[in-house]
Amino acid sequence: MTLTTEKAFSLSDRVKEKFHSTFADSKPLIVRSPGRVNLIGEHTDYNHGFVLPAAINKAIYMAVSRRSDDQLHIVSVDLDRTYKGSIHTIEPSGMHWPDYILGVIQQLQGLGHPLGGLNCVFGGDIPLGAGMSSSAALECATAFALNELFGLGLDQMTMVKLSQKAENAFVGVQCGIMDQFASMFGKKNHVIRLDCQSLDYTYVPFNTEGIRIVLLDTNVKHSLASSEYNTRRQQCEAGVKLIQAHHPEVKSLRDATLDMLASYVAPVDALVNQRCEYVVEEISRLMAATDDLEKGDIAAFGQKMFATHDGLSRKYEVSCPELDFLVDQVRNEPSVIGARMMGGGFGGCTINLVREDAIDTLVEKIAPIYRKAMKKDMKVYIGQIENGTSLGE
Ligand code: GLA
Repeated sequence: MTLTTEKAFSLSDRVKEKFHSTFADSKPLIVRSPGRVNLIGEHTDYNHGFVLPAAINKAIYMAVSRRSDDQLHIVSVDLDRTYKGSIHTIEPSGMHWPDYILGVIQQLQGLGHPLGGLNCVFGGDIPLGAGMSSSAALECATAFALNELFGLGLDQMTMVKLSQKAENAFVGVQCGIMDQFASMFGKKNHVIRLDCQSLDYTYVPFNTEGIRIVLLDTNVKHSLASSEYNTRRQQCEAGVKLIQAHHPEVKSLRDATLDMLASYVAPVDALVNQRCEYVVEEISRLMAATDDLEKGDIAAFGQKMFATHDGLSRKYEVSCPELDFLVDQVRNEPSVIGARMMGGGFGGCTINLVREDAIDTLVEKIAPIYRKAMKKDMKVYIGQIENGTSLGE
């Protein structure tokens, strides 16, 4: 078990040090871009529903400077790998990790922004494959850094959209907008209530006295995630098509009702119906949960998190035994207000709202049970809500 309560020692210094030892440049631009949590509203973003994410105290740091030629030299400190290429031939690297950066460069070029060569070093403490969106953080860091470095004058929303497109078009995951939005627009001690249809958003204060966000990491890397993710998205689109034959005004599952599903989807495709039911229920659950949060009824909010988990596990089927196990372990713990799997699924973390004074006891109790049952160790992260992508020091 690893209990990580504090930011690893000076990540930004580690990145800067590597930059200086690799390149001669004296003063790179430093950008910090965080990972995210999502309290409720899962797999709703690409269905034009709502989400309730926040940026957290786990981030990528990127040091970047312009080169006088057209070369791209990119170094991952954590993987100890280097990518070299030209700004004029952007294609998938075959190494995976550079693709998040290259995809953003391609999007910027597609928008007509002329870019030059780059020296770039990045690293961070967002655990990979744990469902905290290290990929979105890397994309947002790149967009933010290049916007500054080349004076492109892009606003945050444009950078969010092109980062999402980079992941859709270049990496090949048909993700929604939540992760990039949360990474870029995060605000300290606030969750973001984002309408993924209009992209209107409000910041909701998250000052639940004595309660902390605790992430329990199953240590299962979500390898199935991208193919199954794309399949879920197609199933939702299939459900919308079936409804549209009778209700052309329905543009997404945001506009659908359970009655419509029962009439037009269930008789044709039971599995598609099951997937769509989860989404329609989750969209309305989020609305009620936001009211709970605004009224300060954290107990009711927590119950909705458990309901979300059950939907994700049984109807949407994006959970895994390890995630189910961790949620079941805390279900009857009086110190746990709510818990559920978080993010795309098939591994990664559960998000738990836990009474602060009981966290240690809870972890001491669950860690050995998890190890015994699942034959692996879980990790624990205490999430703090932080600001979104910004210039670092
Ligand atoms: C991943 C995607 C997001 C969102 C979540 C599920 O994190 O990147 O767009 O769909 O899964 O809510």
